[in-house]
Amino acid sequence: MAHICAIGGGKGGSGKTFICANLGFILATHGKKVILIDLDLGASNLHTLVAQHHPKTGLHHFLNKSVKDLSLTAEATDVRCLFLITSLRCSLDAGNLFYAQKQKIIRAIGQLPADFVLLDIGAGTTYNTLDFFLAADQGLFILTPEPTSIQNTVQFIKAIYLRKLKLILKQDAFTILAKEVANESNDGVVMSPLDIVDRVMKREPERAKYLEGELNKLTFRLILNQHRSHIDTHLGQKIEKVCNRHFYSQFKFLGNIAHNERVSDSIIAKKIFVLKYPYTATTTDLKSLANRIVATRIEQPAIREEYAYV
Ligand SMILES: Nc1ncnc2c1ncn2[C@@H]1O[C@H](COP(=O)(O)OP(=O)(O)OP(=O)(O)O)[C@@H](O)[C@H]1O
Ligand SMILES: [Mg+2]
Repeated sequence: MAHICAIGGGKGGSGKTFICANLGFILATHGKKVILIDLDLGASNLHTLVAQHHPKTGLHHFLNKSVKDLSLTAEATDVRCLFLITSLRCSLDAGNLFYAQKQKIIRAIGQLPADFVLLDIGAGTTYNTLDFFLAADQGLFILTPEPTSIQNTVQFIKAIYLRKLKLILKQDAFTILAKEVANESNDGVVMSPLDIVDRVMKREPERAKYLEGELNKLTFRLILNQHRSHIDTHLGQKIEKVCNRHFYSQFKFLGNIAHNERVSDSIIAKKIFVLKYPYTATTTDLKSLANRIVATRIEQPAIREEYAYV
């Protein structure tokens, strides 16, 4: 079974697509079969970063039922072992998928024949974004050192927990009472996942323990992109500590990716960055990241979301 990594983070422009493309390239050059999927529906651009300029098939063929098997929409790139499923030709309203379509895509992703499947997730906290992120075995949050990026990442993490919590509470085993708690609000403001668990704890401690256990199973990774030399080198570790203090799961900081002006040049040239600029700190950082992801694949049990999506 493929190991599925979701690459997200809430903030637009943090480098999710850049990291997805280059990570995929590095893993493929190590002989791993990698399928990249552009799940930034309505704003897809992953094909450009892997120099796949005129894709002939893609997710639209799966959604319009021209093909039954999602793997048939994975197009070979010029790089051996690297495949792409683009969403370039999905209709303009693909950003608002029906629930059944989303479920169908998530189920099919789980069946893909590959060593790694990397999901390029769009910005924001729509249900599509959150559900695609939760469909992975491993969630990578890409953030930059800017405070706005850190703030948006924290919001994204909270939204992920809230979504997961609500999916668990929708199951039959949960009582009306527990479900009601999740729908309560503080003066019209949706409660945080921690508040919800606290409230369930007061009324149904056994079920609250179960909820905590389920949330604890999520394992998330943090990657600090566009890191510059004057920025605190331990910023990522500090964010990791804060996340581990305030959320349930284990957060692991996987490293900094150096900022490099030539990233933009490689995108303008429509070339894969690590191929065009192999002797840069950014490429070295991306290679270390790929090694850590391969290593964590072994130590990490699947966290794939098994609940019904609504
Ligand atoms: N390490 C880096 N060094 C320098 N520039 C970078 C780096 N990573 C990304 N960028 C710049 O940031 C821009 C945005 O990157 P990218 O498109 O990967 O972000 P994104 O998170 O996928 O954005 P969106 O949310 O819009 O999909 C790129 O065009 C590139 O110029
Ligand atoms: Mg992107």
